[in-house]
Amino acid sequence: MSLKASKEVVLSDQKLHWWQKTIAYEIYVKSFKDSNGDGIGDLKGITSELDYLKSLGVGAIWLTPCYVSPQADNGYDVADYYNIDPAYGTMDDMDELISEAGKRNIKVVMDLVFNHTSSENAWFKESRQSRDNDKSDWYIWSDKPTNWRSIFGGSAWTYDEKRKQYYLHTFLSEQPDLNWKNPEVRKAVIDVANFWADKGVGGFRMDAIPYIRKPDVFKDGKPDALDGMVSVHTMTANLDGILDYLNEFKQAVRVGRDIFTVGEANGVTADELPLWVGKNGVFDMVFEFSHIQIDLPDEKNWCEKRDWTLPQWKKLFSQSQIKTGEQTQGWYPMFLENHDIARSVSHFLADGAPRIKGAKALATLLLTMRGTPFLMQGEELGYENVVWPSIDDYDDVFSKSHYEFALSEGYSEKEAMDGVYRFSRDNARTPMQWDSSPNAGFSTKKPWMSIHDDYKVVNVESEKKDSDSVLNWYIGLSKLRNNHPVLINGTYIDLMPDDEKIFAFRRENIDARATVLINLSSETALYDAYLVERAVQIAGTEGTSTVGRLSPYEAVVFEESSVEYIVLNQDKEGVLRDFIYEAIFVPEGEEAPDRSIIEKPEISMYYKDFGSMEADRCIVAKKGTRAVGAVWTRIMNDYGHLDDETPSLAVSLFKEYRDSGIGTVLMKKMLSLLKSQGFKKVSLSCQKANYAACWYKKLGFRVVVDKDDEYIMVYDL
Ligand code: NOJ
Repeated sequence: MSLKASKEVVLSDQKLHWWQKTIAYEIYVKSFKDSNGDGIGDLKGITSELDYLKSLGVGAIWLTPCYVSPQADNGYDVADYYNIDPAYGTMDDMDELISEAGKRNIKVVMDLVFNHTSSENAWFKESRQSRDNDKSDWYIWSDKPTNWRSIFGGSAWTYDEKRKQYYLHTFLSEQPDLNWKNPEVRKAVIDVANFWADKGVGGFRMDAIPYIRKPDVFKDGKPDALDGMVSVHTMTANLDGILDYLNEFKQAVRVGRDIFTVGEANGVTADELPLWVGKNGVFDMVFEFSHIQIDLPDEKNWCEKRDWTLPQWKKLFSQSQIKTGEQTQGWYPMFLENHDIARSVSHFLADGAPRIKGAKALATLLLTMRGTPFLMQGEELGYENVVWPSIDDYDDVFSKSHYEFALSEGYSEKEAMDGVYRFSRDNARTPMQWDSSPNAGFSTKKPWMSIHDDYKVVNVESEKKDSDSVLNWYIGLSKLRNNHPVLINGTYIDLMPDDEKIFAFRRENIDARATVLINLSSETALYDAYLVERAVQIAGTEGTSTVGRLSPYEAVVFEESSVEYIVLNQDKEGVLRDFIYEAIFVPEGEEAPDRSIIEKPEISMYYKDFGSMEADRCIVAKKGTRAVGAVWTRIMNDYGHLDDETPSLAVSLFKEYRDSGIGTVLMKKMLSLLKSQGFKKVSLSCQKANYAACWYKKLGFRVVVDKDDEYIMVYDL
């Protein structure tokens, strides 16, 4: 006798944390929603739109920094970590946001900017006073600068007249770097994080984390451009010893709390991921950028277009998926956009790709890959990049400095602007488009940044009404994830790594196997039909898809069940309740497992009932768990009633249909669908006294166990 403990069985038992099962949504606070008519987004604005976020299935909102800040880098220059910038509201507004979000099961995630502060931060103000004050060693001071170029251009060192020394800034001169070598600094940032964690936030995104560890000796590097400088990134990113700092942080902040941390880790490679996330990792997730930077040229020719192919792109995803996969017990934050990068439709699709189809294709990738999807505000509407005529129209410090840098490296104005169009961070930062009214419903006043020209068409209100919109596709996918747990907890494997047009992968858990096929090209693409041989289509951008072929940008998701028996369960009123939860597989030819192996009482109860059916493979259901999503989705889709978020309502509807006679049709349809999926028998328990008992008998169910007040009934498919 053997109970087969396959990899999938282990997976199915693996308890996922809340943040692994939800969708995260990045809010660029300044651009999300303005509640007080000053043209700047604010916390109250966010609170007013929580129901919208809820409708997207969002369970975590990552707020870009909203602490007190002079806004040299839109909040990534923090002057006071313990207070809210008046432009965004007050601490009371924040408390209200956390509490209102909590009521909707949404957690607030704070952005911790700890590589640097603002030069207006009291810590820096004190540090610059002298070489021997209490905080003199809280920043990186030197008598002599090196030839390092800051990320935003120009020297990474600025001379301070007061202290008569240079200080290091990886980013702007208004963003001096903290000295993590100093234990007092490490304690200070831990205190900040604990302050916010104690407020009840759900997690932290940690900014620019690879730069916190500096080299022991500051030396010039080999110049990488005509300016004779080398990027500070080359000299300081991800140096040995960094994990010690982050481990200390983890122990002091993360351990013992039901929150998550995600590090922004540009410079950490896929191979290194197991050290950063997973069982002993320092974070729960890490934003690794290789797939984003596939088109990013070298520093000196940053404005040139770099070509890439789909197989190369897929390989990058696969590497990260493997390194954060079940073997490492890691987890992946799936993202295609954030506030620093271009809009994915413009970034990853061929020029001229149809916006709506393309956005839906990318949405399918984002929401069905293994990991927690991170959506950037507006991505769910299918935003494209902006194209503004002059560099003066741009706000982003990166765009401006890189434009100048390109000119100084000999590129023409047009070439430099092409780079800005491709890489400007403003692409992702334009105000949220809520409706087609002036200022796109974002504010009653002219917003702090221009709104995208397309707002009359691309906005929440009109996309909500249009069943074919990108927004409704996202909402559908979000429900699909909830109804098909395999899309959340299944393993990942790339199915067609060398294909130039299709991104195809499989997700698999104990109950099911989903196959996702996305044509990312502008031509028809073919795939082998055997990939979806026994499967049912559960989603498709073009309605029912022709097996074996995808039209341009078509995306389709199939699912097949890996089980042969199914136990349905119903309550006293005869309402069918939930179904498959835990499976016990016994491979054909092997004996059924000894019942004593099954320790959980609720499971053994059903197993006992089921045992009389001579099953050589069986599924044991537990009350209160999830339905066989594929089947229900299909039935309800066909009858147009899958407008509910949970399978149980679908089930209750079912009861009403049963009473009205339509139920018979539905049940027959369900039985045939189960059969087409390879199920052999359906079993359910049913109260004898219940009207439904005769109904089931009429449908051809036979009673196999007759207990006091209950039948166990079986249908042979
Ligand atoms: C990364 C942030 O995402 C970006 O917006 C910011 O400018 C830099 N870190 C500096 O904090």
